[in-house]
Amino acid sequence: MGRHAAYDDLLNFGVLEPEDVLAPHHYTAVRSNGRAMRSMPLWCYTSEKFFQAEKAKIFLPQWNLLEREEIVPNVGDYHTMAFLGVPLIVARGRDEKVRVFANTCRHRGALLAEGKGNCKVFRCPYHFWTYGLDGRLIGAPNYTDSTGKSLIDSDNKEEFGLVEIDSGTWGGFIFIRFKEGPETLQQHLGTLVDVLASHSLQDMRCARKVVYDMDANWKCFVENYIDAYHIPYVHRDSLAQWKTTEYVRIKPKGRETLALAKHEGSQLLLPSADYVGFPAMPQIDEDKARGTWFATLRPGMLMTLGNDGALVFQSEPVSAKKSKLTISSLFPKSYFEREDFERISQNYYRRNDIVVVEDKEIALRQFAGIQSPYARIPRLCSEETSLNTFGNWVLDQVLPSDDRTTIAAE
Ligand code: FES
Ligand SMILES: [Fe+2]
Repeated sequence: MGRHAAYDDLLNFGVLEPEDVLAPHHYTAVRSNGRAMRSMPLWCYTSEKFFQAEKAKIFLPQWNLLEREEIVPNVGDYHTMAFLGVPLIVARGRDEKVRVFANTCRHRGALLAEGKGNCKVFRCPYHFWTYGLDGRLIGAPNYTDSTGKSLIDSDNKEEFGLVEIDSGTWGGFIFIRFKEGPETLQQHLGTLVDVLASHSLQDMRCARKVVYDMDANWKCFVENYIDAYHIPYVHRDSLAQWKTTEYVRIKPKGRETLALAKHEGSQLLLPSADYVGFPAMPQIDEDKARGTWFATLRPGMLMTLGNDGALVFQSEPVSAKKSKLTISSLFPKSYFEREDFERISQNYYRRNDIVVVEDKEIALRQFAGIQSPYARIPRLCSEETSLNTFGNWVLDQVLPSDDRTTIAAE
């Protein structure tokens, strides 16, 4: 088909979702590399059916970034939120352990807690059932049968505790998964644990968190983050001003990608005199301190790490066509005590309000564009290889397992 590709040739060009959306033959072009290398068909960004498969195979059984541990610093602190539309409570128990529970009363399902705070027990406002900070049911007043006998006794009491969600922590981050999955959190994190150890992420605190409700598939921002091709254009006057002398990739061991761009200064700022930053963290390894680390943790966590702090992104799906993008600026907690903290941290936010907004806007614009009947599955150039690798990873998860035929594009 030439330049007059027709309005109704949609299926051939990956716009219209086929009935058998998970049949591997629809994805042959994604699985080739070299000159024929393509991005995923466009329905992968709009199809509810494809999204449901991503949810079942990626988001439910794999580890997802939820929050920072610091949102519940003290025993009895709790914080409510939702992930993938599921209401949750994060709470720190008497044993100091952070747990994540479904925010659903085991009686008739009312939301147990709201907002955030500190408490000794959770008490449901509907019929006053109470639960410990460890989720155990403590009491269910007057919950008896017609003879006055309690419906809950020592034999079945365990069944009435709050449902605990599988969670784990690393670097001060809380990760969750809703279903048993193929790997432990450590395996999922791969090389991040060792390579980023001296960044001491667990000793950082979030100074600013920005949330964008995105009219875009969750993959649009992830792909923007890993796309090297756009940098000289979208970020012509901002990020492109950084001059990298060397780019070192770490061989992945889990669900991560990790690379170091070597240069002077911190890419958490922009390279001009009015972007004064914090000094390098004293504990960071010398060989890790020069330049910027770019990390991704599939599915949706992305991190830009300087020797002076970290910028953390999470792209969380809401539906096929909507997502939530959360961006957190982290700094070592000792920096918060500096008298110039407020003033200097503004320079980092000012950089984000340029660079992150450039990325967010272009991701939204791309998503708006690919819903046109004239949009086509693009070929990918060598600087977009990472998009093909990511697309293949998504397909490896989502397509029936006997058809996993990833062709390493790198
Ligand atoms: S719904 Fe919570 S106590 Fe009844
Ligand atoms: Fe960008």
